Amino acid sequence: MATLLKVDDAQASYGSSHVLHGVSLALQEGEVLTLLGRNGMGKSTLLKCIMGLLPLRQGSISILGKRTQNLAAFEVARLGVGYVPEGRQIFPTLNVEENLVATAANRHGAKPAFDLKRIYEFFPRLEERRNNMGNQLSGGEQQMLAIGRALMTNPKLLILDEATEGLAPLVRAEIWRVLGELKQTGLTMIIVDKNLKPLLELANQHVVLEKGHVVWSGSSQALQDNRVMVEQYLGV
Ligand SMILES: Nc1ncnc2c1ncn2[C@@H]1O[C@H](COP(=O)(O)OP(=O)(O)OP(=O)(O)O)[C@@H](O)[C@H]1O
Ligand SMILES: [Mg+2]
Repeated sequence: MATLLKVDDAQASYGSSHVLHGVSLALQEGEVLTLLGRNGMGKSTLLKCIMGLLPLRQGSISILGKRTQNLAAFEVARLGVGYVPEGRQIFPTLNVEENLVATAANRHGAKPAFDLKRIYEFFPRLEERRNNMGNQLSGGEQQMLAIGRALMTNPKLLILDEATEGLAPLVRAEIWRVLGELKQTGLTMIIVDKNLKPLLELANQHVVLEKGHVVWSGSSQALQDNRVMVEQYLGV
């Protein structure tokens, strides 16, 4: 299996405030990895660095063996990374279908490719709302749309920041169902979410951040067996 993502000693800051202090991790193709940790520990910052939205002060990030230093976010996306940021950032004045096709591509010849038909099979709700504008959607529909839009780029790696934050239980269940089905297709994913239970079922590997340091990493079983760590770093 190929190494899809390698993060080596990543350090990053916002101005003079140093936020990541040497984070390293590796993700194999087909794996699902979670980034865990309380508020403000650096999860979103690390995802921004991977996406090329924030430069590293030190260290390196490679995607399928290619160093991403100096690449802009759109170039990282073209390497095959789909990103669903906190806040979703869907296009408010485009309708659902226009949002889905706006950035669609299949640069790496994925088979079967994600197209509108397949996205609507994953999320029937989006098909019902296909002519509604982005700003007329509920939070759950917006999140489905953000995931669908990222999938329409046929990514090799899908990154979800706060996958189900602020969503109603039924909608959350729908998102987890789809993420489970996507894993079955072999899609590699990094997921940040506050709900540990569905993550334990879905992920191969968990990485816990504390003030910009990796303080623990391991399997779902190892995480469940380590109550002390879970209480100390996740507070649950
Ligand atoms: N744009 C920014 N400018 C300055 N500081 C920032 C910025 N974004 C985040 N930070 C700070 O960087 C640190 C890490 O934030 P980050 O958003 O990566 O945390 P997080 O683990 O994603 O937290 P949450 O669970 O609340 O989403 C925090 O101290 C935060 O206040
Ligand atoms: Mg965050």
